[in-house]
Amino acid sequence: MNIKDYIIAPSILSADFARLGEESSKVLDCGADWIHFDVMDNHYVPNLTIGPMVCKALREFGIEAPIDAHLMVKPVDSLIESFAEAGASYITFHPEASDHIDRSIELIKSYDCKAGLVLNPASPVGLIEESLDKLDMVLLMSVNPGFGGQKFIDSVLNKITKVRSLIEKNNLNTRLEVDGGINLENISQIASAGADTFVAGSAIFNENDYSAVIKKMRSSLETI
Ligand code: DX5
Ligand code: ZN
Repeated sequence: MNIKDYIIAPSILSADFARLGEESSKVLDCGADWIHFDVMDNHYVPNLTIGPMVCKALREFGIEAPIDAHLMVKPVDSLIESFAEAGASYITFHPEASDHIDRSIELIKSYDCKAGLVLNPASPVGLIEESLDKLDMVLLMSVNPGFGGQKFIDSVLNKITKVRSLIEKNNLNTRLEVDGGINLENISQIASAGADTFVAGSAIFNENDYSAVIKKMRSSLETI
């Protein structure tokens, strides 16, 4: 894969929540491509974070980069609409959280947003197979959703390779994003397995120099 095709999407879950506008703009100035926006509802996952009003506030603050809204919520449809109206670019949801997966995908597309499905570490690839040709992105969780700063679950590497071959077999341009526990030590292995889009929260925001980490991540990706 061409180095230019790799996307680094810092998760602002690990940013300073009192300064989300500045933090988002700083991490983009430091070389990030997208903002990964983790939405947790204390129902589908055991944590509560930020909603569409904060997404809209980031747009009004001047964030122009793609906002990748990862919905860890149940039900999903009303929040899909709110996030589309709030300026989200990608909207991804967990198939287990929607009663009508295809309807939720179509709803995202009806707003001209990019649609993605998310698989938890133990969720089978079969859950996305029927929808793959309609998806702009597949997001594979490499931790159990709900918290930042957890350890990458190695068994997900096989699933990354499996989904990459499905994408290639069907000649699709679907992005393959991986989320959870990504750091400087494992990013190249995750890319070699077939991922092209990398969410990193604590590995970036827990460092003082965001630019240095992102540069190092890109150099690791250059070795693939
Ligand atoms: C977990 C979230 C992730 C997470 C990434 O539920 O979806 O985006 O915050 O954070 P790190 O990189 O710290 O694992
Ligand atoms: Zn996420």
